[in-house]
Amino acid sequence: MNLIVKNLSKSYKKMKFLEIEILKNIQLRIKSGQKLALTGPSGAGKSTLIHILGLMDKPTIGKVYINGVDCFSKNDKYLCSMRRENIGFMFQFHYLMTDFTVLENILIPVWSIRNIKLEHARNILKKIGLIHRQDHYINELSGGEQQRVALARALINNPKIVFADEPTGNLDTNTGIEIEDLLFESISELKATLIFVTHNEKLAAKADKVIKMLDGKIIEGECDESLY
Ligand SMILES: Nc1ncnc2c1ncn2[C@@H]1O[C@H](COP(=O)(O)OP(=O)(O)O)[C@@H](O)[C@H]1O
Ligand SMILES: [Mg+2]
Repeated sequence: MNLIVKNLSKSYKKMKFLEIEILKNIQLRIKSGQKLALTGPSGAGKSTLIHILGLMDKPTIGKVYINGVDCFSKNDKYLCSMRRENIGFMFQFHYLMTDFTVLENILIPVWSIRNIKLEHARNILKKIGLIHRQDHYINELSGGEQQRVALARALINNPKIVFADEPTGNLDTNTGIEIEDLLFESISELKATLIFVTHNEKLAAKADKVIKMLDGKIIEGECDESLY
C-alpha cells in the first residue's frame, strides 16, 4: 500500500490558550513495498508521526492518504478495520500482555477469528524460531524473544503496511540484528510497506529511503517528487 502525507501538523493544548506544535507541516510519500527509515534525535516527533500514520492517533491539520483513501475523513469504525486488516505495529517496548501466553498474544489482533488463525500463528512462530515457546508466558522470555513475539503479533494479519518504532532500541546489538533481519525478511515476503524509526545508521542504510526529523519537521530526505 502506498502512503501520502500532506500538510500534516499535530499540536497539543497546554492550558487554555497555549498550544505546543509537535509536528509541523509534514509532507511525505511512500510507495508500495518501500522501506522507509525515520531518524532524528529524541523528542523530534518520530513516534507521534508514526502513531498518526498507523492510524492510532489523529493529526490536528492535514491529510493521510493510504492507497488514495483520505483516512481521517472516515469514522473511527473505518480506522479500526483499516488497522485490523492492513496494518501491523511494533513498539520499542513490546507491549505484550503478560497474563497471556506467546500464542495468545500473537492472536490478540485477530481474537474474534483466533481459531481460524491458529495454524497461521504457529507457522509464524516456526519461522521466527519460537514454536517451542508457544505456551510460555511473556515474563518467561528474554528481551529478544519478547520482541520476536511482538513481531509475530504485527504479522498475524498479513499486513500491507508495518510500522516499527525503534523495535530493537532496547536490545543488545546481535539480538537486535536478528530481529531486524526477521522483520526485513517478513516484510519482503509479504511485499508490505515498512516505516521504521531507528537511531542505528546501519539499519537505516538498509532502507530504500531515509528521512531525518528535527523539532517536528523533516529536515533531510524529503521525497524526490520526480520519482512518483
Ligand atoms: N500526549 C502528549 N502531550 C503533550 N506533548 C506530547 C505528547 N506526546 C508527545 N509529546 C511531546 O512531543 C514531542 C515529540 O515526542 P515524540 O513523538 O515521542 O518524539 P520522538 O519519538 O522523536 O522521541 C516531545 O517533546 C514530547 O514531549
Ligand atoms: Mg519515540
